[in-house]
Amino acid sequence: MKHDPQQSPYYSELGRLSFSPGWARPEPSMWSEPKPKFKPAVWRFADAKRALDASHNMVPAEQTERRNLILVNPLEGNTYASTRHLVAAYQCVMAGEMARSHRRSAAALRLVLQAKPGTYTVVNGARVEMAAGDVVLTPAWKWHGHVNDSDATSYWIDFLDIPFVQLTEAMFFEPYPDGGLEPITSEGSIPLRIPTDEALGPGRDAKEVEIGKDVMPTIGLHLLRQPAGGRVDVAKSTANNIYAAISGHPRFTVQGGFSASLSPGDVIAVPCWHQHSIEMPDDATIFRVSDEPILEKLGLMKTASN
Ligand SMILES: [Fe+2]
Repeated sequence: MKHDPQQSPYYSELGRLSFSPGWARPEPSMWSEPKPKFKPAVWRFADAKRALDASHNMVPAEQTERRNLILVNPLEGNTYASTRHLVAAYQCVMAGEMARSHRRSAAALRLVLQAKPGTYTVVNGARVEMAAGDVVLTPAWKWHGHVNDSDATSYWIDFLDIPFVQLTEAMFFEPYPDGGLEPITSEGSIPLRIPTDEALGPGRDAKEVEIGKDVMPTIGLHLLRQPAGGRVDVAKSTANNIYAAISGHPRFTVQGGFSASLSPGDVIAVPCWHQHSIEMPDDATIFRVSDEPILEKLGLMKTASN
């Protein structure tokens, strides 16, 4: 039988003392360049909508803020995150429903897909209307709850930095004291509500706009507009991106052989260090949500030169 020196009493004793010998590590702790574990993945609004609509009787009335479907990256062992630091979810609030207020140390925002007048979020006492194409921001530790007083279900995509906050172990969460909706004390306005068409301005020319920068220290938000025939090439970088199609049918081709055409409301995750391109068969508006601000602040935002 082959003798394994690491089975010797010496190594057993190190293990018992919670030491790991640097000369005999089971796997390396550094490598020459990023090797992301997360996978490129796509999620379809039509699939989510069908499943959310069918959830009518499954969600207890007092848990309507949980009527959402988390976009879990198909990485083995992962049960939550969409990319390394961010998570996205399709959420609906049915007609007449209210999602109770709460606050947490994680930041969130949502891209509204469908909502009739009467749908709004209360953010720290401000009523913020929600309409299709709006981005509504709920920065960290701001009370927020959702109301749908319209006669139709409202749908949106949530984006949160919860996986990052979990990594830091600096998570705090608090439900609103009376267990209901915080009182409305003022009318909401920009920067908490950002209609994406207003942020981009008129026209159909290629354009990229950053939004929410001053109030979202951990999540980078960019709107991309491209005319039919347009193409965007994105170099390998340390940023982890989640894209959602607002309009049009952009086709994503990701290094490694993954490709997908998005319809409005569809989402694609592109983990770090994956070169990718986006081609536009028709006029398209795309929302890009990334962890760039975290990486920038820590000096870890790097883009490959080739
Ligand atoms: Fe929330």
